[in-house]
Amino acid sequence: MTDLVQHSVRVIIAHQAPTGAYVASPQFPVYRYSWFRDGAFIAYAMDLVGQHGSARSFHDWAARTILRHARKAERAIEKAARGEPLGQDYLHTRYTLNGEEGPEEWPNFQLDGFGTWLWALNEHVQRTGMALTPDWQAAVTLIARYLSALWDRPCYDLWEEHPQYQHPYTLAAIYAGLRAAGALLGVHGRSLAGIADQVRRFVLTHGVREGHLVKQIPPPSDPAYQIDASLVGVATPYRLLSPDDPLIRATVARIEQELHCPGGGVHRYRADTYYGGGEWVLLTAWLGWYYTEVGEIGRAWEFLRWVEDQADAEGHLPEQVSGHLLAPRRYSEWKARWGPVAKPLLWSHAMYLILRCALRSA
Ligand code: BGC
Repeated sequence: MTDLVQHSVRVIIAHQAPTGAYVASPQFPVYRYSWFRDGAFIAYAMDLVGQHGSARSFHDWAARTILRHARKAERAIEKAARGEPLGQDYLHTRYTLNGEEGPEEWPNFQLDGFGTWLWALNEHVQRTGMALTPDWQAAVTLIARYLSALWDRPCYDLWEEHPQYQHPYTLAAIYAGLRAAGALLGVHGRSLAGIADQVRRFVLTHGVREGHLVKQIPPPSDPAYQIDASLVGVATPYRLLSPDDPLIRATVARIEQELHCPGGGVHRYRADTYYGGGEWVLLTAWLGWYYTEVGEIGRAWEFLRWVEDQADAEGHLPEQVSGHLLAPRRYSEWKARWGPVAKPLLWSHAMYLILRCALRSA
C-alpha cells in the first residue's frame, strides 16, 4: 500500500462517527452531514480495502436512518400513486450523523443516493457473505418501493442542481439499485427487474442525442449543459450499459473532449460555476476506474498519478482544484460564502481507493 492509500483509509475512519455515518468533509460548514451518495461510494471503497466493519457500520446507519424516516417515504409512495405533488414528503439526500434532518434549506429531493446505497449494500453482502440484518431487509424493501414509485419524477441531480429535469445519471443509479434490491430480496424482489428494465428503456429512448448520452432529460439545446462527466457512472459501476458499449464509448469521448484538461483533471460540466468550476478529484479517479474496465490501463495510471499529485502535504485530497477554472470570476463568491474548497473530502479519498484497487486487479 502506498502512503496515500493508508492515509485515505485513516481519513475515512477518523471521520466516521460512532453511529456509522461518514461525514462528507469535516471542516466545511455545509458538508458536516452524511450523504447517501458519498457514503455508499465510501463504504464500497472500504470493502475493497478489507475494512468491512466500517462499511457495515455505515450500512447500519443508512438502514436505521431510512427506517426512522419511513413515514415520510410511505407518504411519498402514496402521493406518487395518486399522482400528487410530494410537498415535504420525501427522504433527504443528507442527514446529521445521528440520522436527523438538517435544519437549513437544502436541495434535498435527490434519488440517486438511494440507488447507489442499494448497489453498495449488495456489493458488501456479496463480498462478505453477510446475511441481511432485519433492519437492512426492511430498509431495502422500503427503498425499492420508494424508487419504484418515484423514479420517473424530476429531482435534483447528483450535483444538487437542475431539479426541473430527469437525469440519466440518477436513473442509472436507480436502475442499479433496483437490480441490487432484486438480488438482495430474492423471491420477494422479483418484480423489481421489470421496473429496472423500464428505467433502462426510458434512458435509452429519451437520454440520447447525437449518439451520446446527455446530462438531462429533456435534452437541452445549450451545448454547455449537454454532457456531464458523471455519465461515466451509467456504465461504471451501474451497468445500465456495458463499459464498451458504443454509446458509452461515444459519451466518454465527449467527456474527454469537453471536460478533461489535457494532462490534468476532469470538470463536472461546461457551465459549472461552483467555486469557479474546477477539476474534480473524484471525477478524475472515476474516469480512471472506467478505463480499467475497458483495459486502457496506461490511461488509468495517468489519472491515478494526477489524483495523487493533488494531495497536500498532509495527504488530504480536496473536492476540486482551482488551477484551470471554467468560470474564474465566480470563484470568490463561493469562497466568501463557505470558505476554501472542502478538504479533505471523504468521497475523493474513496474514489482514489477504488481506482487504486481497480488497477491492482486489472
Ligand atoms: C456535491 C454533491 C456531494 C456533496 C457532499 C456537493 O457539492 O455536488 O455531489 O454529495 O457536495 O460531498
